[in-house]
Parts: sequence; C-alpha cells; structure tokens
Amino acid sequence: MTEALVKIETRGRVGLLTLNRPKVLNALNNQVVDELAEALRAFDADDGIGAIVITGNEKAFAAGADIAAMKDWSYADVYSQDYLGHNWESLRRIRKPIIAAVSGYALGGGCELAMQCDFIIAADNARFGQPEINLGIIPGFGGTQRLPRAVGKAKAMDMVLTARMIKADEAERAGLVARVVPAEKLLDEALEAARVIASKSLISVMMAKECINRAYEMPLNEGMLAERRNFHALFSTEDQKEGMAAFIEKREPDFKHR
Ligand code: HXC
Repeated sequence: MTEALVKIETRGRVGLLTLNRPKVLNALNNQVVDELAEALRAFDADDGIGAIVITGNEKAFAAGADIAAMKDWSYADVYSQDYLGHNWESLRRIRKPIIAAVSGYALGGGCELAMQCDFIIAADNARFGQPEINLGIIPGFGGTQRLPRAVGKAKAMDMVLTARMIKADEAERAGLVARVVPAEKLLDEALEAARVIASKSLISVMMAKECINRAYEMPLNEGMLAERRNFHALFSTEDQKEGMAAFIEKREPDFKHR
C-alpha cells in the first residue's frame, strides 16, 4: 500500500489536513493533491465539520510542485493529463471555509495552494514566493491570477518576474495573509480561528464565503445584487431568527445549521 502523504484529523468541528512529505519540503505531486481533494470533499460532505485547516510542517507549507516528477514531462504529457486541472482545482468547489496555516516555505504551487484557501494565517518564519521563472516556466495554479488580486500588480510582477521571496510581515502588509503569529502558536491560532467559524451558522458562513468569492468574478453591481439576494434569503432561515433573538435576549445563539 502506498504511504499516505496527507494526514487527516478532526479537532471537534474542525477538519485538519497536514501535508506530510517532509523530506522534499512537502513538494506537491498528483498523489498529494488527489489525497487532499478527496479529504476536502469528505469534510465538505460531513455535517460534523464546519471549517477546515490545511497546514504543513515548521520548515515548509509546500515548496511547490514536485520538480523531480515534472522535469521530463513533454507538452503532450501535461496536456493529455490536463495537469493542474481536475483535483488541483477542486479547492474552488469546497463550500466550507478553508484556512491555510503557513509556516516556512510556501513557494510556487505551495504559495498558490495557500492562495486557493479562503485565508492565510502565517507564522513569523513564513516565506512566500513564485520562483517558477527560475525553472523556465510560469506559475500554473493561479499565481499570475490570484497573486495580483491579493497584492496588486506591482508586487505580483516583482515576485513572479524576479522570483523574490517575501517574508511574513511583507506578505501581511501587502494583503496576502490575514494574520502573522509566532511560529510556535501557528496551529493553535489557525485551529482557534476555524473553531470560531465552525461555531457560527454554517449556512451564513457558506453564503458569506460564496459572496466574497464572487467579488473576484463579477462586476461590482452584479456582486452587490448577489450579496443583497443572499442577505434576503437568510431571512428564511431558523438561524437568522435564533441569532437575532439571542442578541435581544442577551444570550449566546444556539444555531441549528452548524
Ligand atoms: C521537488 C523539492 C522541491 C520541489 C525542495 N525539494 N523543493 N523536490 N520539488 N519543489 C527537495 C530538494 O530537492 C531536497 O531533496 C529537499 O527537498 C530539501 O530541499 P533543499 O533544497 O536541500 O533545502 P534548502 O537548501 O533548505 O532550500 C529550500 C528551498 C529549495 C529554497 C525551498 O528547496 C527550493 O528552492 N526548492 C524549489 C522551490 C521551487 O522552485 N518551487 C517551484 C516549483 S515549480 P534532496 O533529495 O536533495 O534532499 C511549481 C509550479 C507551480 O511549483 C505550478 C503548479 C502547481
């Protein structure tokens, strides 16, 4: 049997996925991505899970796609397997929130994987980069698309064209990461953020995620309308009644959909 490359755990209502190829700094091959995709789909379908954390180890979240696996591939090889399609794209279809907890290197496909998550919590030793240009290729998993949306054109061009890595504090200033925390507290902070999310009404959490993602895919007026219609729809839920009643009654809400 092949050894699992992604460790799957649950902590209460939080699903925790740990990339586990430490000898190659969690380089992403098709097996890692297939395992990740399968575990994410299972968590998404599991009523007992309200949020997901993806992490690596202290030295690396992931140092990119597996260069050793890719090096001899031809155009026909990558085209015929539609490399970076299929399971690589599956994070986009997960409806529950996913937090990337990044320590150490998040490079190339590793940085792109972190950006596919809903937000990134970085350890103070984290380093982000898109060094594909050094290999005679370009980012292929969203680096030329998500990075400029996150950090702006100037910094994205700088990172992609020069392969310069940025540290956690610069990534936070640029808007790539949501929070920077001491490395030894990374997992606890990420799990706590996920626990907080998982304690809310799942239906409003999923709608909020969907609406924010639409902000990147449609013009402002269409996005505003989509937001307003989803806002209206939430007034049909028990959780809206419960959330507002709990506020008025000065107590914690007891949401049904979580
Ligand atoms: C395969 C990798 C790897 C990778 C590291 N390793 N990154 N193997 N693919 N992306 C392996 C090394 O070969 C080495 O194996 C072991 O991990 C430890 O790495 P070292 O280089 O010895 O560590 P260190 O000197 O600390 O340097 C760390 C590093 C460096 C700066 C992160 O490893 C590095 O530059 N890695 C490549 C980063 C990169 O170019 N990423 C983009 C990949 S292309 P051995 O057997 O020697 O011990 C990509 C395409 C994106 O991601 C589009 C698709 C998703």
